[in-house]
Amino acid sequence: NDKYTQERQEAYNINKDAARYFYRSLVTNPKALEYLNKRQISANTIRGFGLGFAPESWEGLYRFLLSKGYGSEQIEKIGLIGKKSGNNGYYDKFRNRIMFPIIDTKSRIIGFGGRVLDDKMPKYLNSKESIIFNKGNHLYGLNLVNKHSNRKRILLVEGYIDVISLYSKGINYAVASLGTALTERQGRLLKRYGDEVYIAYDSDTAGVKATLKAIDILLKEDVKPKIILLPDGMDPDDYINKMGKIEFEKLFLNSYNHIDYKILINKKKYDLNDIEDKIKFTTEVSKIIKDLKSPVEQDVYINKISEDTGVSKEAIEKEIKGNKIYNT
Ligand code: UTP
Ligand code: MN
Ligand code: MN
Ligand code: MN
Ligand code: MN
Repeated sequence: NDKYTQERQEAYNINKDAARYFYRSLVTNPKALEYLNKRQISANTIRGFGLGFAPESWEGLYRFLLSKGYGSEQIEKIGLIGKKSGNNGYYDKFRNRIMFPIIDTKSRIIGFGGRVLDDKMPKYLNSKESIIFNKGNHLYGLNLVNKHSNRKRILLVEGYIDVISLYSKGINYAVASLGTALTERQGRLLKRYGDEVYIAYDSDTAGVKATLKAIDILLKEDVKPKIILLPDGMDPDDYINKMGKIEFEKLFLNSYNHIDYKILINKKKYDLNDIEDKIKFTTEVSKIIKDLKSPVEQDVYINKISEDTGVSKEAIEKEIKGNKIYNT
């Protein structure tokens, strides 16, 4: 409907003007520039991604947008300003943060992520959900993947900075899932934009958990993802900054399929020299093997685990049967 389309169009316009304001605030702010410089983000990259800075001010953006003719209500609806308590006007939501415009595949700014310059919490603040912004329907960076015909590979990462950092170093097919657990919609987008889907989430507890969830989502979409394992505690940005593009690309060759990944995660969790741990490990892995649809695949993994643990093939097979769904 017409009114709805108009409202959306105005929302895009407000965001675009806000992005201009943030950009100008960034290039005139030595502290923010120094932060990005420290993160190895160049002037070129700042321009390319339209990065910005929300200054300390409580109503700088609000006043600027009013001067452009937008109404307070419209600006509030997309989360750039909030109502002061007691119905006392409005204040800028994003203050003292590096701003990352979130751009859809039609080149419209649908929202922002904003990062503090230190370790205050929350580290990132995102635009609230609105008529133009549904986090679960978008992938950060997909607008750029779109522009490159390189659709063979797509790489799923956690963060804005991962996408930006990889891109600036020549890996121009990374996208991020906007801080949420991967949704089905995002899974379908990955499938549509890449023939091979790789996951490189952060190598920490949250990252492993999110990886396991993303695997399930993608399998449901009939996509068999490959998983990249980074050294403990690192994310793609850390890794490429430290090791460079060539080393990063080697990670693709050393990536794991979802079964190997799950087995590996369990191997890290348990000490195979400890008897009780070994039993737990074998039991856990038997559950993973149980879920495999192909008997051949099952057999291959049973052999592997038997070699790893010294537990006999027969015992592992029984364990799987005991869990019922051993298809023979
Ligand atoms: P991370 O905590 O891994 O941050 O969050 P990062 O991307 O590595 O950032 P740096 O390197 O510390 O600057 C990954 C992503 O999760 C979302 C953001 O999209 C972020 O990029 N996130 C994280 C939030 O939305 N809110 C938060 O408070 C933290
Ligand atoms: Mn495809
Ligand atoms: Mn993380
Ligand atoms: Mn990081
Ligand atoms: Mn991270």
